[in-house]
Amino acid sequence: MSASYVIMERMTSNHDLLARSLSAVWHPCTQMKRHETLPLVPIARGEGVWLYDFDGKRYLDSVSSWWVNLFGHCNPRINAALADQLGKLEHVMLAGFTHEPVVQLSERLRELAPDGLGHCFYGSDGASATEIALKMSAHYWRNSGQPEKTQFISLQNSYHGETLGALSVTDVALFRDAYGALIKQNATVPSPDWREAEAGEIAETFALRCADALEAHLQQYHNQIAAFIVEPLIQGAAGMAMYHPIYLQRARELCSQYGVHLIADEIAVGMGRTGTLFACEQATSNPPQPPFCKGGPGGISPDFLLLSKGITGGYLPLSIVMTTDAIYQAFYADETARGFLHSHSYTGNPLACRAALATLDIFEQDNVLNTNRDKAAFFNRIAQPLREHPKVRNFRNTGMVWAFEVETPHTDFAQRCFSLGLRHELLLRPMGNTVYFMPPYIITEEEMQMLVSRTLATIDILI
Ligand SMILES: Cc1ncc(COP(=O)(O)O)c(C=O)c1O
Repeated sequence: MSASYVIMERMTSNHDLLARSLSAVWHPCTQMKRHETLPLVPIARGEGVWLYDFDGKRYLDSVSSWWVNLFGHCNPRINAALADQLGKLEHVMLAGFTHEPVVQLSERLRELAPDGLGHCFYGSDGASATEIALKMSAHYWRNSGQPEKTQFISLQNSYHGETLGALSVTDVALFRDAYGALIKQNATVPSPDWREAEAGEIAETFALRCADALEAHLQQYHNQIAAFIVEPLIQGAAGMAMYHPIYLQRARELCSQYGVHLIADEIAVGMGRTGTLFACEQATSNPPQPPFCKGGPGGISPDFLLLSKGITGGYLPLSIVMTTDAIYQAFYADETARGFLHSHSYTGNPLACRAALATLDIFEQDNVLNTNRDKAAFFNRIAQPLREHPKVRNFRNTGMVWAFEVETPHTDFAQRCFSLGLRHELLLRPMGNTVYFMPPYIITEEEMQMLVSRTLATIDILI
């Protein structure tokens, strides 16, 4: 750390940092003018589920900093692994070179992931994994003598990232509309989000009805379709829309029947978030109970599995596209152009891979999936007052994700809830009137109690 950085850090106050940030940083997903009335939140340090400002004021990170953090901020075990890696190798290009962390990570993921996903291709953020999977799928069909298969389908309200290719399979008007002229048009099919079921219709029946719509679409257009991309079990950006796993099982059957790749985007839901290491393991009408085995009894294997966010425990940008040996082999040839000529400078960065290995170690050593099951049961018990609140609708839970809608007169509910939450020491980041919790897995019972009681207090002011 340079001397000037240390001096500057010592001098920083909340106020100074805000002013400097507003003058020099263009913040993501933000209408910057909003910050004239809604101040940025300065963060000096993090520890466990807590983020602290320069005055020591703290916020419980109930959204795991955009769904990435698994084992708390400044986790000593991930820190130690990174410090060790820093002394060995910070980076080397992955084209023509290789290194221990990337090889080990690929081997371990192959063992853990659903059957058949024998190869890992590396990217940086989630959106780059989506881009890679879309390109790889279409290129596979081209290499296999079906160059006309260039279309993709996704679910209504899907979210797969915000680069141009990823936006072509993202169905969120707010993120797409300004770039309509730049984006390839792809079709969407009905989402099995159970909030959309008819009165009296159970989630499973509704999911099967949506799968019928997928089948009708595939029947008509499969010759032009390369892949169907889906967020397994939970459509995060759609407002934590949850659906019955039977949909995934049907989607797998239909994609195989019609010769279309299935891309499972587990960027947000992978790494234990839904209760199994990968959400695809639950793709059956009878989801497996822990201890979960590889692939899960009745789970599905997609043609592509996308990982990012939690894969590094929330430390460093890394994404991975896992795919089958059959797809890998379609690129393996003497001609350069049949190869997958895609790259990012930081592909397979050793530090990021090492953070991912430390994350997998914690899963193994701490029996995280079982512990999370107990935590989720505890949370569901103490969240009863929220579930029964007269202004709360559709209280739902999958694994370590909870969500509900709030009946409120405020059209700017999300912003008000965020600001009020901060006053209650909570980082809440509702989507519209949907409040959700996606806390780091190391959250304690006491912290869960605090999250529930203070959310109730926040909501009571806003209804
Ligand atoms: C399901 C899903 N796919 C892709 C992405 C894009 O990831 P990133 O923001 O790292 O580009 C996200 C981000 O929220 C996501 O939830």
